[in-house]
Amino acid sequence: MSKTLIVTGGAGFIGSNFVLMLAELRPDWRIVNLDALTYAGNLENLTDVQDKEGYVFVHGDITKTADVERAFDEATKLGGDISVVHFAAESHVDRSIVSGMPFVQTNIAGTQVLLDVSRARGVERFVHVSTDEVYGSLGDTGFFTEDTPLAPNSPYASSKTASDLMVRAAIHTHGFPALITRCSNNYGPYQFPEKLIPLMVANAQEDKPLPVYGNGMNVRDWLYVRDHCEAILRVLEKGELGEVYNIGGNNEYPNIDIVKLILQALGKPESLITYVTDRPGHDQRYAIDASKIRDELGWEPRYTFEQALPLTIEWYQSQDVWLQRIRSGAYREYYAEQYGAR
Ligand code: NAD
Ligand code: TYD
Repeated sequence: MSKTLIVTGGAGFIGSNFVLMLAELRPDWRIVNLDALTYAGNLENLTDVQDKEGYVFVHGDITKTADVERAFDEATKLGGDISVVHFAAESHVDRSIVSGMPFVQTNIAGTQVLLDVSRARGVERFVHVSTDEVYGSLGDTGFFTEDTPLAPNSPYASSKTASDLMVRAAIHTHGFPALITRCSNNYGPYQFPEKLIPLMVANAQEDKPLPVYGNGMNVRDWLYVRDHCEAILRVLEKGELGEVYNIGGNNEYPNIDIVKLILQALGKPESLITYVTDRPGHDQRYAIDASKIRDELGWEPRYTFEQALPLTIEWYQSQDVWLQRIRSGAYREYYAEQYGAR
């Protein structure tokens, strides 16, 4: 059935992959993309859909009621019932360690503004895109289930947890038609090149040092971004209101193994690996039990890491201009601040 969707953060990594996927899988859906275009938002990701009928970009900030209202006005003009998929966030743990306040503002206050306007205007469904980092850190064994107690450790994870709880409160207090997804680490096209995989690919291509935190033995559970986007679509269309769904690919790797795989794929020497001071409070291991979404909604990842890591590396190799534009300017200042003294 045709829908009108407000997508927040649609110019970021996962949001732009989601918008591009919808153009392919649900071409008749109308989309309003509300994005503040922070350092992480890039409209160049969306050139394939920018002129599509029924696609509207609204440059606005989710912490500002007037901006969110503007997105709803555009969605109302497009017609039909409105649903929301909420990606917009400050998303980088390292940045949250440097400064927590933008995370409180966008992730917590912004989510609350979005909830308030969505409730006032009326929405069919609201998917809140969250993260496995709300569950904290695991030892060598075990998995996060939807019932694992929330125990976030970084300012980023704590702000996402707070936003999850405000969504939960809206569901329980107001009968608000929301669902929450919690996904593991994503990789794929359009990821901002300060996150592990694109950073390592970009540095290796330029024969620059690859900064591995601590001993490189922290483990993440990696999922190809397209699989995450398909899971969100499944939750939007088929999920039970009020429920939480974990999303993951059963694909755990220590960071150092990923870095070595990237070097191998690019034919670069391991001598580029540089161990740097660990991230403060660095979570040891994330691993998702995704059996609920598999059993109840029939979603499973379609890509293995062995298929999708090479695809991702090739994508970054072919997107030299995209990468260079991002790696210039403001990003350079961030990089100097993060790694200069390490
Ligand atoms: P990203 O940082 O690449 O993109 C965030 C987008 O939100 C950008 O386009 C940015 O401009 C926009 N934005 C930021 N603040 C805003 C504001 N105040 N108002 C409007 N727009 C704003 O993030 P991402 O990696 O694409 O993550 C998207 C969502 O998925 C986040 O909520 C994140 O917590 C969640 N998530 C990410 C991962 C991952 O591995 N990247 C894993 C699980 C969950
Ligand atoms: P990141 O991509 O920042 O995701 P998150 O911290 O949200 O899981 O980092 C993934 C892992 O890679 C994490 O254990 C930290 C590590 N890492 C490095 O070792 N070096 C780096 O330069 C970066 C950015 C991350």
